[in-house]
Amino acid sequence: MHHATHEITSVEDAARKAVTDTLFAPRFYKTDYVAMNAISVEPVRAEWDAMMAEYEGDNNHDHFQRDAGFAAEALALSSKMSPELKQEFLDFLVSSLTSEFSGCVLYNEIKRNVDNPDIKQLMEYMARDESRHAGFINSSLKDYGLGIDLGNLKRSKHYTYFKPKYIFYATYLSEKIGYARYIRIFRQLEQYPDKRFRPIFRWFQRWCNDEFRHGESFALIMRANPQLLRGPNRLWIRFFLLAVYATMYVRDHTRPQLKQAMGLEPTAYDFDVFRICNEITRQVFPILLDIDHPAFAANLERLSACVARADQGKAQGGLLGGLKRGFWNAAGAAVFARMYFIPVLSNRLPATTRLQPRW
Ligand SMILES: [Fe+2]
Ligand SMILES: [Fe+2]
Repeated sequence: MHHATHEITSVEDAARKAVTDTLFAPRFYKTDYVAMNAISVEPVRAEWDAMMAEYEGDNNHDHFQRDAGFAAEALALSSKMSPELKQEFLDFLVSSLTSEFSGCVLYNEIKRNVDNPDIKQLMEYMARDESRHAGFINSSLKDYGLGIDLGNLKRSKHYTYFKPKYIFYATYLSEKIGYARYIRIFRQLEQYPDKRFRPIFRWFQRWCNDEFRHGESFALIMRANPQLLRGPNRLWIRFFLLAVYATMYVRDHTRPQLKQAMGLEPTAYDFDVFRICNEITRQVFPILLDIDHPAFAANLERLSACVARADQGKAQGGLLGGLKRGFWNAAGAAVFARMYFIPVLSNRLPATTRLQPRW
């Protein structure tokens, strides 16, 4: 494939990959802290307080430490990885680390810039969790001598400004889809332990319960402010749902070996994740994407092909490569627009919001 241009063989490659913004790589965000400060959670106070008690209880405080078997297991399994699989695994570690650290930075910045006690306390707990997640992934990169300097990443990464409501839609979805991705992998490897080709996957269940709870927090904020879920905002929700689902599909199909090594087929895995995520988002979103519409799967496949051809153009370089890239990027945008108009399903919101991670 197009590995030649993306290969991670040095600590500089890893750092460059983390800091580079592409359409499909995790970003860093800043927002309007004054508006964030004004958010009220009074309408959901009882559910909110129960959730804050869970954060305070911190049932994962001792989870993100390697046990005695970790290093030995990592070493024993290393020889079983092909060079291609190793590259995909490193790519997975760098993009996951960037995404965990992106949450850590954003939540910390919000915490520092608001006095609203509810929001401040929430952000402190979530930043605590994301910092542990990022550190845990970084120690796996350090095994390969590819640890990323997080202070440097924080300083050198470009920040995208998002209004608070976009932060809520996008971050809610990324937390919940993060949960769905990790739990689907954990269940698969629970069933087929011989496919667990790295020890880090043993940590995924308790890890993704943190992400699930982070998603719950944003669900409660949106339910407390129902204007975020009405009128023209429904179009934004539709946009973010599609953007998050399509990004995942395209990314997973650029590193198929990672899923195959776990005995998962990328398309089937992604649809399992969409299904879990659709079920969860019924707690807050007035609409759901119709993932069973025949045009949905067909267009995701087209989108993925457009992105692969645009990448080939980029790798080829020169005038011809540039034209090829431009053409396939435009074709991809047209497919995305077509997908946006696939009719959505409407959803009646439940009386209470909170869910338990039962998948
Ligand atoms: Fe996380
Ligand atoms: Fe999270």
